[in-house]
Amino acid sequence: MAQNTIAKGPGDLAPFWMPFTANKQFKANPRLLKSAKGMHYQSVDDRPILDGTAGLWCCNAGHGRTKITEAVQRQIEELDFAPTFQMGHPLPFEFAKRLSEMTPPGLDRVFFTNSGSESADTALKIALQYHRLRGEGQRTRFIGREKGYHGVGFGGISVGGLGNNRKGFGPLLPGVDHLPHTLNIERNAFTRGLPEADMSLADRLEEIVALHGADTIAAVIVEPMAGSAGVILPPKGYLQRLREICTRHGILLIFDEVITGFGRLGSPFASQEFDVIPDILTSAKGLTNGAIPMGAVFVQNAIYDQFMGAGGPAIELFHGYTYSGHPVAAAAGLATLEIYQSEGLLTRAAELAGHWEDALHSLKELNHIIDIRNYGLVGAIELQSRPGAPGARAFDVFTKAFEMGALIRVTGDVIALSPPLIIERDQIDQLVRIVADAISATE
Ligand SMILES: Cc1ncc(COP(=O)(O)O)c(C=O)c1O
Repeated sequence: MAQNTIAKGPGDLAPFWMPFTANKQFKANPRLLKSAKGMHYQSVDDRPILDGTAGLWCCNAGHGRTKITEAVQRQIEELDFAPTFQMGHPLPFEFAKRLSEMTPPGLDRVFFTNSGSESADTALKIALQYHRLRGEGQRTRFIGREKGYHGVGFGGISVGGLGNNRKGFGPLLPGVDHLPHTLNIERNAFTRGLPEADMSLADRLEEIVALHGADTIAAVIVEPMAGSAGVILPPKGYLQRLREICTRHGILLIFDEVITGFGRLGSPFASQEFDVIPDILTSAKGLTNGAIPMGAVFVQNAIYDQFMGAGGPAIELFHGYTYSGHPVAAAAGLATLEIYQSEGLLTRAAELAGHWEDALHSLKELNHIIDIRNYGLVGAIELQSRPGAPGARAFDVFTKAFEMGALIRVTGDVIALSPPLIIERDQIDQLVRIVADAISATE
């Protein structure tokens, strides 16, 4: 049985099996947050912690936003829950309409989920059935990408390309292949913004298509910018080339915008920022500013129409979640959109990008740093791994930064930064100063 000796602050920490966490290590020396407002968390020992990660890439409008809190309070009083299976209530319709006004062209149909993982699996299932409805049911393969992250459902880990997330879990979905990832430190270290074109990376898709036959492939799924694997940017022209190849072969292109959606790169979606329109776009996180769990899958009208043209009054898509279009989540989302729009947050990253880039690249001469990458309000600082101990150095930086008053995120030996989009220039300087001090204090 679990021991009680690790109890600190709130009591026994053993019963909560923490996600994506080194449980034993954490519970021996916990880092606990108790409240948040604006750009700051407050730790249980009453220290302000500057949020360098928008929570977990989700609190784009900062914390404790009154408009969202009030909308949630009102909604839960008025209608706590209503089914959306063969029933409805107005809020998800209204939210879907508002969202469709800001999505890239044609992506006007919205399927609600509760998370990024569910969004990814929903997108894959829609792609499969779409091809069936068109009489191309043999298109069942998916192409993902090395280092890709599409959540933790079986579909998502199958198309995802992170070994640790896959290898404990059996054979996964059959018929999945992977593109190469686009990180090339040797060639692109310390590039500001997108790396120079390297069309061979996208052209690998042609080789995979030739290997399997285009008529067996349902969809290609990529993050326009890979976040979880350590901020990996698409080389110039890469996404356009993927789009061309998919279109040529009748393969659907899915963009996973769970991180890049809602302003992270300087436009509402990465699709708009990079001027490439996918057939399906997945989102979550910033959709409700992280306040209530919710995800959304945006689908091209033509795909939706294919489902709706399929016959009589039967259910067109045998898929959905009890909480798809949950009234409280939709209320939080509507309030979030109002904040994003009234405060210009969906494009604010573009205004701050220059200051952000200069601040990050000012760290270049510090010890251990082998690369710095940035775009919009995302940044990565990659450290040389300690021999035989990958990830240990960045983890030390992470714990030191927390002691010094900033929340950062590490994956492997990459420090990833993605502050709320409300951050001010002096707070960017403060965040980068803490990161610099934490790196300097690390062997
Ligand atoms: C690109 C991408 N897709 C999917 C997910 C999974 O989202 P969730 O944790 O809400 O299931 C994430 C989470 O970080 C993500 O970054």
